[in-house]
Amino acid sequence: MNSMTIRDALNSSPRENFSTSEPLSVVGVCLDDETWTALKQFAESAPLITLRSHLSDYRIQENESPSEMFGGSAPDICIIDFDRDRRRAAVAAEVVHAAAPETALFAVSSDPQPDFIIQAMRSGCSEYLLKPVGREQLLNAIARVGGRRRERLQPNKAQVFAFMGAKGGCGVTSLVTQLGALFASSYSKKTLVVDLHPDFGDAALYLGITRYRYHFFELVENTDRLDTDLLQSFLAHHSSGLDLIPAPEGNDLPRRIQPGAVAQTFDFLKARYEYILVDMAPGLSDENLEMIRHCDQLHVVTVAEVSALRNAVRHFDYLTRKEIPRERFRVILNRHQKRSLIADGEIEKTIGQKIFWKVPNQYAHVVKAINGGDPIASLSSSDVTRNLKDLALTLGAKPSATTDKKKEGSSGFLGLLGRW
Ligand SMILES: Nc1ncnc2c1ncn2[C@@H]1O[C@H](COP(=O)(O)OP(=O)(O)OP(=O)(O)O)[C@@H](O)[C@H]1O
Ligand SMILES: [Mg+2]
Repeated sequence: MNSMTIRDALNSSPRENFSTSEPLSVVGVCLDDETWTALKQFAESAPLITLRSHLSDYRIQENESPSEMFGGSAPDICIIDFDRDRRRAAVAAEVVHAAAPETALFAVSSDPQPDFIIQAMRSGCSEYLLKPVGREQLLNAIARVGGRRRERLQPNKAQVFAFMGAKGGCGVTSLVTQLGALFASSYSKKTLVVDLHPDFGDAALYLGITRYRYHFFELVENTDRLDTDLLQSFLAHHSSGLDLIPAPEGNDLPRRIQPGAVAQTFDFLKARYEYILVDMAPGLSDENLEMIRHCDQLHVVTVAEVSALRNAVRHFDYLTRKEIPRERFRVILNRHQKRSLIADGEIEKTIGQKIFWKVPNQYAHVVKAINGGDPIASLSSSDVTRNLKDLALTLGAKPSATTDKKKEGSSGFLGLLGRW
């Protein structure tokens, strides 16, 4: 899938126009005299960094807090020399990365072997500086950290709506992709779909997107390096205007997702969109739980079948035990039929709450949309599309100026709701 590596994308980030009001704090680990002197000269000549301390050995221990490691709060940048003991340097980088994910890690070394660079990157380093460390090299690396810090400070604004099936096959991907395309095209909202499946997600397929380079978990693994340029390389675009970050195509590599990394990634994404819809795999994995805690609303998609309803109840019980407020969950009943074997009232009694939304059962239309890879073109006149347009409105999508024009002439209650 990946013709370009993550490192290529990172290195292709153009140098940013850098200025911050506050200098970035720097701690060095095992740096040789020449590198430490170069850093001191850089700090004296440009008010971009302040050198806080230098640790003369790789004594950083697992389970230490940032204050134990650094004798104070975590620094903005930690620069580790890999030449004295490459293995211990990599372990130190990993430990800092896990304990202080906001700290940018730079490796310094005189050895440019690609294997060594990859090893340093895998341990969490975002930069690999070659000795002798020159001013230009430092400036570019520090500018990237400053740029990312500035971007993180932008206010969050997107609403994040998560969708999870009570069991597999309840229609989550169909709903999320259609709803996302409607938010983007009918209401001109800047919308992103994130496919949070750990493997074999379908959102890209349902949107007819076959060409993409990276998946969401690669983004999460690189969250401390995230800036607008890096994000661009992760986005796939649909003709409706919807953006997508796809799921992995297979679970080929073991992943180490640090606690908090999913939430941190969403904080960054929230500053760039109005709506983010998340297609979650069924189940209560650590990543799903973090997502549920972090989203504005969780929509549990179910169908009127005993096994799905039983699972919905189990999910709610579990989430309540995890102290997630009940108001955070909503139930969407998909494939709704008026003459269902289980009546709506019985469903509400079983799940202990009102059904928030009912999506009609229209198998032929939905399958046609999936097969065509365009969730709205072939559905434009269907009941499902009308229903999902209303759902988008209910979720907060106000019609934009252009859509307002289109509905001039419509009157009464439907006109007020923005239906046409
Ligand atoms: N409103 C609907 N009416 C009729 N069929 C539907 C509707 N919504 C979804 N389906 C059908 O249900 C099937 C499963 O849908 P989908 O792949 O979206 O489910 P999912 O919850 O994402 O599944 P998975 O758990 O595998 O990710 C598809 O064949 C789809 O066409
Ligand atoms: Mg799916």
